[in-house]
Amino acid sequence: MTLYSLAASPEYMEPLREEIRQAMADNGGAITTRALQQMVKLDSYMKETGRFYSGIANFQRKVLRGFTLSNGQYIPPGVIIEAPSHAIYMDEANFPPDSQPAEVFDGFRYYKLRQSGSASDHARNQFVTTNERDLSFGYGKHSCPGRFFAANEIKMILARLLLDYDIKNEDGSTARYAQIESGGFTSPDPSKNLLFRRVKV
Ligand code: HEM
Repeated sequence: MTLYSLAASPEYMEPLREEIRQAMADNGGAITTRALQQMVKLDSYMKETGRFYSGIANFQRKVLRGFTLSNGQYIPPGVIIEAPSHAIYMDEANFPPDSQPAEVFDGFRYYKLRQSGSASDHARNQFVTTNERDLSFGYGKHSCPGRFFAANEIKMILARLLLDYDIKNEDGSTARYAQIESGGFTSPDPSKNLLFRRVKV
């Protein structure tokens, strides 16, 4: 998913490469755990891709026992409920006024939010963050326990690819290939090819 975004926004490749090189240089030339933590722009880019191309909804649950919400709405047993994650991701109210509008793809949106300095902004704007606004990994007790592992794996793969290759769409366009939508879910279109060209160093 992130590779399709990168092919459509080549202007991010050099700043990301620079960050990866610096993080590795700070850590003995290797992609260590600490180096991965230092890749905050890459983390932001991954998270923004997940936000922008999220499915319509997630957190699907079948109600076994009826319950009443704080607004008085009764949810009967037997119904399926879900959270409107895409609407939440596109809600301006969830971003500070000086952020890019929610309908704009800003690969460094979360990096900028983390830079503001407060511990809460730092914690709430990571790829692995789960909260009422970030539902890609679920929420609460059953949120994804594999997300830290997944984040590190994805970062390692992207770091290697970014360092070694330029990436572009097969047809040379910079329009991002459309996602495939299926019910509330979305996935990249595996029938679309990307071109990788080794970077000359
Ligand atoms: C980018 C990759 C991943 C995404 C987007 C993802 C997403 C999710 C989401 C949304 C949930 C919550 C589902 C719900 O509550 O309805 C979940 C749960 C879970 N994930 Fe992941 N996941 C990823 C990678 C992984 C990996 C790598 C592992 C294992 C190594 C893993 C293991 C689990 C497990 C065991 C649960 C169930 C937790 C529970 O019910 O208490 N996931 N994941």
